Parts: sequence; structure tokens; C-alpha cells
Amino acid sequence: MAFVEICLVLATIGLLLFQWSTGTFKAFKDRDLYFEKPHPFVGNMGASALQKASFQKQISEFYNRTRHRKLVGLFNLRTPMIQINDPQLIKKICVKDFDHFPNHQTLNIPNERLVNDMLNVMRDQHWRNMRSVLTPVFTAAKMRNMFTLMNESFAECLEHLKSSQPFAAGENAFELDMKVLCNKLSNDVIATTAFGLKVNSFDDPGNEFHKIGKTLSFSRGLPFQKFMMCLLAPKVFNFFKLTIFNSENVEYFVRLVVDAMQYREKHNITRPDMIQLLMEAKKESKNNWTDDEIVAQCFIFFFAAFENNSNLICTTTYELLLNPDIQERLYEEVEETQEALKGAPLTYDAVQKMTYMDMVISESLRKWPLSAAADRLCSKDYTLTDDEGIKLFEFKAGDNISIPICGLHWDERFFPQPQRFDPERFSERRKKDLIPYTYLPFGVGPRSCIGNRYALMQAKGMLYSLILNYKIEASPRTTKDLWESARGFNIIPTTGFWMQLLPRK
Ligand code: HEM
Ligand SMILES: *[C@@H]1O[C@H](CO)[C@@H](O)[C@H](O)[C@H]1NC(C)=O
Ligand SMILES: *[C@@H]1O[C@H](CO)[C@@H](O)[C@H](O)[C@H]1NC(C)=O
Ligand SMILES: *[C@@H]1O[C@H](CO)[C@@H](O)[C@H](O)[C@H]1NC(C)=O
Ligand SMILES: *[C@@H]1O[C@H](CO)[C@@H](O)[C@H](O)[C@H]1NC(C)=O
Ligand SMILES: *[C@@H]1O[C@H](CO)[C@@H](O)[C@H](O)[C@H]1NC(C)=O
Ligand SMILES: *[C@@H]1O[C@H](CO)[C@@H](O)[C@H](O)[C@H]1NC(C)=O
Repeated sequence: MAFVEICLVLATIGLLLFQWSTGTFKAFKDRDLYFEKPHPFVGNMGASALQKASFQKQISEFYNRTRHRKLVGLFNLRTPMIQINDPQLIKKICVKDFDHFPNHQTLNIPNERLVNDMLNVMRDQHWRNMRSVLTPVFTAAKMRNMFTLMNESFAECLEHLKSSQPFAAGENAFELDMKVLCNKLSNDVIATTAFGLKVNSFDDPGNEFHKIGKTLSFSRGLPFQKFMMCLLAPKVFNFFKLTIFNSENVEYFVRLVVDAMQYREKHNITRPDMIQLLMEAKKESKNNWTDDEIVAQCFIFFFAAFENNSNLICTTTYELLLNPDIQERLYEEVEETQEALKGAPLTYDAVQKMTYMDMVISESLRKWPLSAAADRLCSKDYTLTDDEGIKLFEFKAGDNISIPICGLHWDERFFPQPQRFDPERFSERRKKDLIPYTYLPFGVGPRSCIGNRYALMQAKGMLYSLILNYKIEASPRTTKDLWESARGFNIIPTTGFWMQLLPRK
């Protein structure tokens, strides 16, 4: 008797779960929009959700199958999204008619401290106010000053490499996991430029900032699992008042920033970092920002800068070891730059002058887009029309939109031979052939990445030091096929970014 009852209960739960997991799949039924059949729980994202492929690969494959349509329905797990495959329509939605799509997708985590105050999560007028506060913070002039903090970390990184070099130096190459090195660098650079704290993770890998910073990532460990759960079942998550991050760890960073602000105010200290810039911005702004709202903007660096900046250096060095000619040409430019400096330390302006460096990084972001897709949320009903004024689709408030960045980057109609690493695509001569709104590593329009200058400056500065001193080569453990071996949201081989460095001098 009891057995039958248990079976009945289990069957009912199973049925309810199944119904719930497919409950959103009718979203496009009456909307005259093509979509591919979704699967329970994972939607069209089976391969990446089950860790069989990277998110990038999944998006690119989906785009390849559907690119002959301008719009297509996509189920990102259970969330229905409308994917825009056409560059002109991307321009319409992200730029021309931005007023209808001013926000990113809603993150439903009301109990999470700081996360909801970050610029990328803020909405509407609140976002507009904060964006105008932060825009002057990320200008070239401010980056120029910030570079004088970053360069110290590049030097420490190099010191570390020199000391780990085998003693019979000169000819001997040594192997390292570039990702481990770059994570340390990213950590130190964020500490000094965003939190006003000088740490050296190369000499002291166990420093508190690094230890606590590591726990604040959506993409690893327990926070990742909680984040996934929150995406799948936000109601359950919020009902139990769960949070993704440990509140003590969050408090650590709040104290760091708030104390630094008070200390600097009191002792009249200036330092060209984010805290200083936010203090100035706060004074000038007519809005009454709370401490949390200010600290949250430093917090962004953990989510937007940490992994992305370190991955950018990794994918670029990986392409350089596969393409020795390109590396050699970059070395020449780096050497010329060093000669022109006549012994003075590297500056922001010298970094900006390296045109081949810029081409290499641009192509690296083309071939290995760190954000596979960008998203928008429709806030006012909107009728999308083509150039002739013919109606294409009716967007309703609440619709989620996806822009398949890596699909576009890997489309041979826009980038011939997309598998080829070819910095010349971005040369002065050929740049003008690029089709507008097909190259979107930092997104597009008023809602695009605010930190792109910062990211490029860090990657270029580090590559300068690295290329000047070492020749990057493949080692036996180097990934053969990055595209196939990457998993999750990052382009990182599951085994690590192994390569070897051969000292140049
Ligand atoms: C290589 C590194 C980076 C890449 C590839 C990248 C990429 C992106 C992309 C694709 C978006 C979405 C844009 C859109 O929806 O149109 C974005 C937004 C954003 N990024 Fe980055 N990013 C990088 C580094 C950074 C850094 C260093 C910061 C530092 C503060 C940053 C801060 C932001 C912010 C605040 C937003 C949201 C902007 C808004 O909603 O107004 N990013 N980024
Ligand atoms: C998508 O198509 C392009 C050619 O247009 C190809 O290079 C790329 O590898 C394809 N993407 C995937 C994930 O197979
Ligand atoms: C970093 O830049 C500043 C300002 O240009 C300079 O004074 C300092 O010596 C540089 N540090 C290193 C390690 O190059
Ligand atoms: C703080 O420093 C600035 C410039 O260094 C100076 O003009 C100002 O008088 C100082 N204020 C106080 C209270 O010491
Ligand atoms: C800002 O907030 C503080 C404390 O909440 C308050 O005392 C002050 O009057 C406010 N200023 C403005 C301009 O609203
Ligand atoms: C890279 O930046 C984008 C935009 O800020 C962000 O959504 C994404 O999570 C970042 N990637 C990682 C791995 O941190
Ligand atoms: C858009 O995405 C959010 C967050 O994933 C979700 O809560 C919402 O239901 C989605 N909107 C529609 C119309 O599906």
C-alpha cells in the first residue's frame, strides 16, 4: 500500500517537474517566430549546460543553423529569448531605438547585496544617472593616470617570471600555465586600480584580497552552483532568502572601500585609482549616492574585469604561439617602442601608439569573443520593421533579446576564413571593409562595455612586457584545439593554458 502511494507521489512530482521545466516553451507559439525544438530544463543550450561544449560554440552553432533568418527564438535554459541575426536590426535595437531596449535582462536576486547596485544590473533612469557618473571615470585621460599604478604589477609579474626561470638561463625555455599567471596579475591590478590596495600575488599568493576575491565569482565553485540554481528557480531561491555570495566576504570589500574613502578624506590623500575617481564623481553628482552604490561600482571589476582581462591575455598569447610570424612582427613593434622610450618606463601613450598590437588584440577578440552574446530587455512595446517599412516582428514589454556576438564573429560572410587568425583584418587599409555591427566584442550602443579602454590597456601593457622578454612557444601540454576543449562561459581549456617561454636575452 505504502509503496504504491510513494510511487504515486514520486510520479506526481516528476510530472510537475517536467511541466515546470517545459512551461515556458510555448512562448513563441502564436508569435510567428521560428524556433528550434527545446529540451526540458536546458532549452536549446543542452551542450553547454551539460558541459559538452563552451557557451561560445553552442551559440555559434545555433547561429550557423539559423542565420538565414533575421530573427529566431532561442531557449536559454528555460528563458525564451529573441535572437537577432541581422547586423542592421542589431543597430536598430541597440542604437536607433535604444529607448525601447534600455536594460539588460533582469537578474532576480533581490537579497544580494551590491550586485543589484552594479551598473550592468541597474535599470532605466537610475542606470542613466550612474552611467553618466562613470563615463568620465573611464576616459583616456583617467586611464593614462591609472596606467602608472598598473605598470607596477606588470613589473612584479616580470620579476616573478625571471625568478622562476631555470638557472642555466639564456637558452632554456620553461613551461607555465598562463591562466594562473594572468589571474594573479588581474587580481593585483584590480586591487591597486579599483580598491586602492597594493598586493603582490606573485610573492604572496595567499594574500587576503586574493583569497576573498576568489570567492566572489559567478563562474566557479559554490557561487556558480548557487547562481545556476537562482537562474533556474529564482522564486525558490528568494523564498529561502539565499544569497550567492557569503555576506562576510562582501562586507570585507565594502569596508575596504568605505574605510579608504574616509581615510583619504581625512588625510587629504590622492591616488589615481577608482576610489579617488568615485569620490570626485560623488561630489560632482547631484544624486545622493549611498556607500553601497559607490562600492558596487568597484565591485564590477570582479565580475567584468577579473576573468575577461586574464582570458584576453591567454587567448592572445595562445594565438601568438601558433603564429610565430605574427609574434615576430609584434616583437619588432614592441622593440621599437622600447627604443623610442629611451629607458623611460612604459606609458599609456606609448601603449596607444602600438598599432600592430592593437590589430593583434582586435583579432584575438574577434576570434575568441569573451562574451558569447549580449542581451537586452524590451521595456516598451515595439514594432520592428525592415528598411522598406515592412513589419518584421512585434516586441512586447518584457521580451528578452539576444545578440549572438560570437555567431557574427565566426560568420564567413563577414569575416572570410573565420578560423584563421589574421590581424590584417584590422589594418588601416582593410578596416574600412568591416561590415558595421558585425564586430561586437564589447557590445554595442549606449549600453555597451564601459571598461573597454581599461581592459585593452591592461592586456597591451602586459603583452608588451611579455613579448619584449620572452618568445612564447608551444609546450607538450599546450591545447591542440582550443575551440573543442573549452567549456562553460569562458574560453579556457579544461587542462589549463599551458605554454612555454623562451627568454630573449
Ligand atoms: C576584455 C575584457 C572585456 C570584455 C570582452 C567585455 C565585454 C562586455 C560586453 C560584451 C558587455 C555587454 C555590452 C552590451 O550589452 O552591449 C559589457 C558590459 C559591461 N562591461 Fe565589459 N568587458 C570587458 C572588460 C570590462 C572591464 C575591465 C570593466 C571594468 C569596469 C567592464 C565593465 C562593464 C560594465 C559596467 C558593463 C555594463 C555597462 C552597462 O550596462 O551600462 N568590462 N562588457
Ligand atoms: C559556423 O560557421 C563558420 C563558417 O561560416 C565556421 O567557421 C564555424 O566553425 C561554424 N561554427 C561552429 C560552432 O561550427
Ligand atoms: C610606472 O610609471 C610611473 C609613472 O610613469 C613611473 O614613475 C614608475 O617608475 C613606473 N614603474 C615601473 C615599475 O616601471
Ligand atoms: C588638500 O590638498 C590640496 C592639494 O594638494 C590642497 O589644495 C588643500 O588645501 C588640502 N586640504 C587640506 C584640508 O589640507
Ligand atoms: C543626502 O543624504 C543625506 C543622508 O541620508 C542627507 O542628510 C542629505 O540631506 C541628502 N542630500 C541631498 C542633496 O539630498
Ligand atoms: C565578461 O564581461 C561581461 C560583461 O561585463 C560579463 O557579463 C561576463 O560575465 C564577463 N565574463 C567573465 C568570465 O567574467
Ligand atoms: C526574461 O528573462 C527574465 C530573466 O531570465 C525572466 O524572468 C522573464 O520571464 C523573461 N521574459 C519573458 C517574456 O520570457
